[in-house]
Amino acid sequence: MTYTDSRGAAAPEDAPPLIHVTGLRKSHGRHRVLDDLTLSLPPGVHALLGPNGAGKTTFVSILSTLIPRDSGEVRVLGLDPWADRRQLQRLISLTGQHAAVDESLSGEENMQLMGRLFGLSRSRARERSEALLARFGLTEHARRRVGTYSGGMRRKLDIAVGLIPEPRLLFLDEPTTGLDTRSRQALWDEIQALADQGTSVFLTTQYLEEADVLADQVLVLHGGRIIASGTAEELKAQVGGSTIELRDDAGHVCEEIPTGGEVDDVARVLHGVAESRPGMRVTVRRPSLDEVFLQLTGAPPTDQITEEALS
Ligand SMILES: Nc1ncnc2c1ncn2[C@@H]1O[C@H](COP(=O)(O)OP(=O)(O)OP(=O)(O)O)[C@@H](O)[C@H]1O
Ligand SMILES: [Mg+2]
Repeated sequence: MTYTDSRGAAAPEDAPPLIHVTGLRKSHGRHRVLDDLTLSLPPGVHALLGPNGAGKTTFVSILSTLIPRDSGEVRVLGLDPWADRRQLQRLISLTGQHAAVDESLSGEENMQLMGRLFGLSRSRARERSEALLARFGLTEHARRRVGTYSGGMRRKLDIAVGLIPEPRLLFLDEPTTGLDTRSRQALWDEIQALADQGTSVFLTTQYLEEADVLADQVLVLHGGRIIASGTAEELKAQVGGSTIELRDDAGHVCEEIPTGGEVDDVARVLHGVAESRPGMRVTVRRPSLDEVFLQLTGAPPTDQITEEALS
């Protein structure tokens, strides 16, 4: 097998895929969460996209050695995450959806404690801790109790802890859920920098934009299996079509009209607009990932009706 990784470097001929899964099944009780899931991924950054309850955490937990599968073949860096879990645990790192740093300790103490747990010497643990805290902009907060950190700072610390052992593959389960736009952007920058240095990343997200910005490859999880995969651009192309945006004088979008994408189709819509609203400004754009999800699954990516009903 030949592939190039996300930075364009050719991988060795015999390098195993980053993640290789065939016919994976997993149920929680009587609820089948993953159903005949199959995929193969080269090194790089991959985003698993799915709404609440789609099975993202279940899948990441299987890949990262935490829980066994019911059936199917799974290889991560060429290893079986259940049978070879001790070996695999030395190569990967997981920052879970609900991460486990000790709130009563400072950032620095958490880092050094984890360094020691990962088997580093005291001085090496201190060195890694200082370097990673600096990298994530946490140096000035290093001596504060984590209990006093903001959500964004905590998330950065969670990820920094996961990087202590210098993993080849980092799993991030919803790394930016609940963060504001600025903290999210800051974390995206860090994840991108990691990827540029050659660390592979498998992240889960409910944010289409996050998958679009970060991932070489986007996987859409729905009904227990991967229903679509490819670059964000490929997914958009797969759905086809173009959306016509109508803007007012101030440039605000007043209406979005989906079209099949063929020139006749677009022309017909534009003709109608020219007659009924002659002053409007028009942009023709590719579908957003939101629209792609809607098209692929017949439902919006998050259960917004339920969320609205609850609020
Ligand atoms: N330990 C468990 N026991 C029973 N059911 C579970 C367990 N873990 C998950 N489930 C169920 O499996 C399904 C998938 O859950 P999972 O946590 O993998 O979804 P998710 O995509 O990570 O969702 P979210 O976006 O909310 O984190 C859900 O219906 C959930 O209730
Ligand atoms: Mg989850």
